Order: sequence, then structure tokens, then C-alpha cells
Amino acid sequence: MTEENFIPKPYTNLIDSGSFTWASPSNIALVKYWGKKEHQIPENPSISFTLNNCKTTTTVSFSKKEINTGFSFEVFLDGEQKEDFKPKIEIFFKRVEVYLPFLNAYHFKIETSNTFPHSSGIASSASGMSALALCLMSIEKELSTDVSEQDFIKKASFLSRLGSGSACRSLEGDLVVWGTHDEIKGSSDLFGVKYPYDVHQNFKNYQDTILLVDKGEKQVSSTVGHNLMHGHPFAQKRFKQANSNLSQMVSILKNGDLDQFIALVESEALTLHAMMMTSMPYFILMKPNTLEIINKIWNYRKQKGSKVCFTLDAGANVHVLYPQNERASVLEFIKNELVAYCQNGQYICDVIGLGANKL
Ligand code: PMV
Repeated sequence: MTEENFIPKPYTNLIDSGSFTWASPSNIALVKYWGKKEHQIPENPSISFTLNNCKTTTTVSFSKKEINTGFSFEVFLDGEQKEDFKPKIEIFFKRVEVYLPFLNAYHFKIETSNTFPHSSGIASSASGMSALALCLMSIEKELSTDVSEQDFIKKASFLSRLGSGSACRSLEGDLVVWGTHDEIKGSSDLFGVKYPYDVHQNFKNYQDTILLVDKGEKQVSSTVGHNLMHGHPFAQKRFKQANSNLSQMVSILKNGDLDQFIALVESEALTLHAMMMTSMPYFILMKPNTLEIINKIWNYRKQKGSKVCFTLDAGANVHVLYPQNERASVLEFIKNELVAYCQNGQYICDVIGLGANKL
């Protein structure tokens, strides 16, 4: 499949106005995507758990414009107009215009809200961009007569990727792969695919408690971060490693070996941060409390024989991952020992989920 496959045939239906709403979740990568080529093509494949509670709900209302003069849209977050969201959406519209030629023909009102606090340090780009892409696909479906369910999701993921790379992994659940990998059937650099093989019972309803260590603005934007992999001394080795880690993850997901899972997931998180520490310019995105939490998790795991582990995004917050059968005990541990390291004691309880929903 190539990019050209996503250019639609001329639209057959004429519609003046309408409105669609989608809720789409965030996701947390187990094998990380860090480094991209032109047009949001990943340097290596990645796999993520889709989340359930951290999500964005977006309504796109559209009405036919009189004259075709560039894009026309307004954006609202929690009912308030957000001028500062517009440049990112304008860039997104430009990137996807060739795949959604109706974008020029309508005025759009985009109303969005997140279940998690906007300034929580949790990236809303994955949930936000995927929710927006799904609303736009619903409009396209109205304008065309022949969009199958499968093509709909594929193209929505393709468009989400052009908004924010990892957003293409948010549409389905509970595990999604993005990036071509020899051992994963159907995998593609252009869109995310639902993980196609058996997953051991141990991973059902896997828990993710997100500890909000630093709620500030991201120190390094994704764009800057991915660019740091260009000419990075360890880049090629890292991309190779991600490929072999994904192969290993395929067997772990099948055999349910949680010790191997922990080792792989934590190593991936630390490698992501190691890439940032060894780039030029270099960054340390962990905070002292991130390290305190990691050490506490390691101690708890050793003392209790628990299968709890951590992963990190490109920031200081910690995702605490654990099997469902440890839910009560790990939550107790979090409340007693980890919440003290969270900004304002804030954390979010989540669990792996099944992807986006049309409302
Ligand atoms: O989707 P982006 O461009 O914001 O990049 C996200 C990259 C990480 O979250 C750090 C890793 C990943 O695979 O999600």
C-alpha cells in the first residue's frame, strides 16, 4: 500500500452541513518510536497499549462555505476558543488536504475536551489528533458511497499519523503496532494495525497508573526530540534494537512471561531517555522524583515478588504498569509510597482499552 491509495475518488454525495463526535484514547508505547523520516515515517516499528480513561472527545461541525479561500475553522477547548491550537491544526490540514479534498469546501467548528487535565503533562496529541482524524473520516464517509469499515480505520490511522506520529496507534485496542516489521503481518509505516496474534491472559486488563511528577510544559517538543536522532551517534544501533525488541515482545505476549516483559519495557523506557541524554544538544527529562519512584518500584518488586514495572514518555511522568491481579496491592503501594513524589499528589488510574468510539 502507498500514500496514493489514500487519495479518495471524486465524492458522490452533496452535503451542506453536519456534525460528528468521536472519543479517542491516549496510548503508551512498550517498544518506543523515537526518530522519524520525512512525512512522519517512523525510523523503527513500535507497539503500544491503548489506554481507556485518558481520552479526548471531539465534535466537528461543518457547513458549506460560499467561497473557496483557504481553510476556515475555529477551535474550542472545554467551550473556550483556543487561538493557540490553530497553527497545529492548520499544519495538519495542509498535510492531509490531498487525502481529504473536502477540507477547503467547508467551515469547521472543532470542539474538544480531555478527560485528563490539559496541563497535566500528559500529551493530548495522540488522543486529540486521532479524535479529529476520525471526525474528518466520518465526514468523508458521508460524501462517498464506498468506504468499508476496514478502509475507514486504516485511513483514519493514516491521517492521525500525519497529525502526530503516535496518534496512529490510538484508534483500536488493546495492542497496536505501527511501523513495518518482518514478523508482524500487515504492519506498515503508514498506519497502525491491531496486534494480529494471540496475547496471553496475563496481559488482559493490564493496569497503567500515571504518576504526574511534572505537569509543566514539555521541555523538548516531539518534533525537536525526533530530530535529535538525525546524526545521533547511536541512532542506527537503536533502530536495530527496537526491531529486535519487537520480535522479542511477540514471544513475550504469547508466552506471558512477565519477568521478560518487565525487563524489556523498562529497558525501552531508559533507552528512550538515554537517546536524549546522548544527543546534541542533550536533555535530561527525568526529574529527581522520577528516579525516586523508579527506585521505590524496584525495591517493592524485590521485596514482594511483584510484577509491577514502569515506563516513561518523553517527560518526567511515570507510567506504572501491573497485571490486573495485583490491582489492590499495587494501588495501596502507590498511595502509601509514590503519591508523595507526584505534583500536588496527582495520579490517574487507567487500564488498557479497546480504542476509539463514535458518539
Ligand atoms: O507521536 P509523537 O511525535 O509525539 O512521539 C511520541 C514518542 C514517544 O511517546 C516518546 C514514544 C512513543 O512511541 O509513543
